[in-house]
Amino acid sequence: MEPHIIKSEESVQSHYACPDLAQKIRAGFEQSKGSIETLSVRDLGPVDQLHTGGAPATLALMEKAELPKGASVLDAGCGIGGSSRLIAQKFGLDVTGIDLAPDFVDTARILTAWCGPDRIGTIDFHQGSVLELPYGNGSFDAVLSQHILMNIRNKATALAEFFRVLKPGGKLILHEITDGPGPEPQMPVPWAADVSISFLASWEALSTELKNTGFTLDFFSDETETSAQWWKKVNALTSKAPPRPLNPRLVFGDNAALFGPNMERNFSQRSACCIEAILVKPC
Ligand SMILES: C[S@@+](CC[C@H](N)C(=O)[O-])C[C@H]1O[C@@H](n2cnc3c(N)ncnc32)[C@H](O)[C@@H]1O
Repeated sequence: MEPHIIKSEESVQSHYACPDLAQKIRAGFEQSKGSIETLSVRDLGPVDQLHTGGAPATLALMEKAELPKGASVLDAGCGIGGSSRLIAQKFGLDVTGIDLAPDFVDTARILTAWCGPDRIGTIDFHQGSVLELPYGNGSFDAVLSQHILMNIRNKATALAEFFRVLKPGGKLILHEITDGPGPEPQMPVPWAADVSISFLASWEALSTELKNTGFTLDFFSDETETSAQWWKKVNALTSKAPPRPLNPRLVFGDNAALFGPNMERNFSQRSACCIEAILVKPC
């Protein structure tokens, strides 16, 4: 049966449509560093980490999850595979990435091939939706949901799918943007050019939904202040120097220039919050 696509997913796909992205990244890399033969996972950091905090945030959170080498991880909404490559290489995890946006999945595969899969480890990418995951029950030791739920209106279905594909004892690792008590978020932001595809839920609402799904909470941290500081640093750096050849504009176009100021303000005013959490599917 063909997977069906719902209206809000079509709009999300359009937001992340980016034809020839891998070739644009290649051109940027060759302009700054030289031959694509030398490309490493680390080199891609300025363009493939589509979340607040970049690679250091992902690594610190994954350390907390304490997954053993060889554990199977689903990177749900993997974007262009930045975190998939990073955690496969750093922790020896067996990573499957899935994303709604066909251009992103193509790009994830090409970038991984250029970095040399033998240097990264076991990694695979599929196009599809977290609302209808094409995996059997109990397929994964962990699911990473990193900056994706704010694009998903029907969070109950996504969380039920995460629960279903996890093994008993498996971990759901969240690095997400939630709604905050401050004024309406300033747009555009990386996940939406306007409010039509921004579905922020408060941590209170999300944690109730997680509990109703059957998860138990193991770890929680409100990272909003740290996130505001991170964007402040990004803004300070980008205001001083011309854009580097590898930068988020390759992915998001001219709107990317507004993300820094808007996100610093959104987090500072708690219009949006950034949370990290680790939840467990009981045995
Ligand atoms: C802000 S990006 C984050 C990408 C990646 N997790 C990262 O941190 O680099 C959000 C991603 O979620 C994906 N996404 C949104 N809705 C989705 C869905 N229903 N199923 C799968 N992926 C989805 C988008 O296509 C996009 O790649």
